[in-house]
Amino acid sequence: MALYRLMNHGVIARLGRPIRQGKESLVVHGVAPDGRELAVKIHTSKVFGKRERKQYLFGDWRYRHAKRHVTLRTEAMWTEKEYRNLARLEKIRIPAPRPVGFEENIVVMTLLGCNGIAAPQLNELEGGDYAALSRMVLAAMETLVSRAHLVHGDLSPYNIVVWDKKPYIIDVSQAVLVSHPEAAGLLEADFRNVAGFFELKDVDVEDYYRVGAELTDDVTQHQKESLVRFDLLS
Ligand SMILES: Nc1ncnc2c1ncn2[C@@H]1O[C@H](COP(=O)(O)OP(=O)(O)OP(=O)(O)O)[C@@H](O)[C@H]1O
Ligand SMILES: [Mg+2]
Repeated sequence: MALYRLMNHGVIARLGRPIRQGKESLVVHGVAPDGRELAVKIHTSKVFGKRERKQYLFGDWRYRHAKRHVTLRTEAMWTEKEYRNLARLEKIRIPAPRPVGFEENIVVMTLLGCNGIAAPQLNELEGGDYAALSRMVLAAMETLVSRAHLVHGDLSPYNIVVWDKKPYIIDVSQAVLVSHPEAAGLLEADFRNVAGFFELKDVDVEDYYRVGAELTDDVTQHQKESLVRFDLLS
């Protein structure tokens, strides 16, 4: 029904072949009425346990009204969250798919790739200028925190797609605001994952450790300040 509505509302004109079946989603190729190629991501269920689910969702003030016993509406919430996070990235011009629409558990975004073929994930890339890619990924990670005030929370070579020699950040449904109580830990893990990958490709990742530590400090500081404000209020 959600797909039908997206087609009826003129978001998707045609659906193509599946691009990838993930653990928690199915991504299908699509075409917009204006001919633009789309990635149609259908959220199935997160493989998170209940506790982790709560961690990601309930520390985010934007979802403060979410019912604590979500199960049925969870996919729709991940979908909206992914759409809103993509919109935030677009506004600040962080390379990522552009959000086109969403409905129930389906997010529609622009395809990275062309002619029905999705661009490879960073880990699938066969050769390339890893040093240049590493610099661009680091710049995007820095902007994500400092300007979009978001921490990806699941960043790895699997969630970076390389198109036209440039890296794009994808899979932002679980990204959280820097004010989230787990933000610093998630940010550290993101930096570790990405730096670890480039290190294996013989890239100097010194900057990752430096920038990662600075940003983690900023996030921790931000949290301390919001705690202080909270204390003043209560
Ligand atoms: N806009 C896009 N353009 C091209 N490929 C995409 C796009 N969005 C997703 N993909 C492809 O589909 C895969 C799965 O998408 P995504 O990472 O957003 O979902 P997921 O639920 O995390 O799936 P998984 O469980 O496999 O990680 C991506 O790794 C990427 O290869
Ligand atoms: Mg993914």
